[in-house]
Amino acid sequence: MQHIFKEGTDKNKPVLLLLHGTGGNENDLLPLAEIVDPTASVLSVRGNILENGMPRFFKRLAEGVFDIEDLIFRTNELNQFLDDAAKQYGFNRNNIVAIGYSNGANIAASLLFHYADALKGTILHHPMVPRRGIELPNLDSTNVFIAAGINDPLCTAQESEELKALLEGAGASVEIQWENRGHQLTMSEVQAAKAWYDSKFN
Ligand code: MLT
Repeated sequence: MQHIFKEGTDKNKPVLLLLHGTGGNENDLLPLAEIVDPTASVLSVRGNILENGMPRFFKRLAEGVFDIEDLIFRTNELNQFLDDAAKQYGFNRNNIVAIGYSNGANIAASLLFHYADALKGTILHHPMVPRRGIELPNLDSTNVFIAAGINDPLCTAQESEELKALLEGAGASVEIQWENRGHQLTMSEVQAAKAWYDSKFN
């Protein structure tokens, strides 16, 4: 997968995996990593799907309606890519914290739904429930931060609560930060994500 790897100054910190929204690329979320942990290594990936020229991490049938077969295939592909990148760059595969926005948050949530040890922690900005009706793996040692907008038309407040409940049901520790906004990524939710990260990983 097309990506950027930037080695951090503190090798004991988690590697921050950056996953952009629809139409974005691997450069978009670099400023977020700089805010959340400027000393951590960064692995920023571009989604392999192109929807009318816009990069994404998996196909969709319509807005908010996922192509589940492709979601499963792409989630496995990203998980394999993380295995390979850990070997190539010499970082600890079990110490990755993802930061995803929108479509990137959805593939990060899908990693949690399909693999017990894919991510140590996850910051999900405006995620949806990636799949329903499956049993989640054991997520006992996984920390999740969700930033949601109470007026987000795409990732509704109700769906954010549903995602929290599903992850908690699998054993994850989940915190939600509510923003009085819509689908946009706000500086106040990034600051809240940083405070959460510092409490868990610093
Ligand atoms: C998705 O397709 O992942 C969601 O609808 C969010 C987005 O548009 O990126």
